[in-house]
Amino acid sequence: MNKTRVIALDELADGAMKTVRAAGRDLLLVRRGDKVYAIRDICIHQGARLSDGVLTCTRRGGRVGEYVAEKVGRIVRCPWHNWEYDVESGACLHDPEKARVASYDTYIEDGAVWVMT
Ligand code: FES
Repeated sequence: MNKTRVIALDELADGAMKTVRAAGRDLLLVRRGDKVYAIRDICIHQGARLSDGVLTCTRRGGRVGEYVAEKVGRIVRCPWHNWEYDVESGACLHDPEKARVASYDTYIEDGAVWVMT
């Protein structure tokens, strides 16, 4: 397993996402507070760049006319056909047990973001 320094932590604002390259792969980083998540930047459906999508949330129905937002800031929606992925695991929301993009462990050290590939 390789350890790669990808960016300084202050290059990625809280709630933002950014593409980096590590070990020959394009990865999408998402920062949530002091934690940074890394997933492969290619949708498993037809190959769109997830970094061209939006960082959003899931919604479930509450009472009539009401939607409840969940996993706020954790969901990346693909720009082509709206498949959604949880950045914490890479799981695709419509079939989380079978469909996922690769996800990578990250950690922060000396003010930098490191990815294990
Ligand atoms: S390419 Fe991502 S949903 Fe189709």
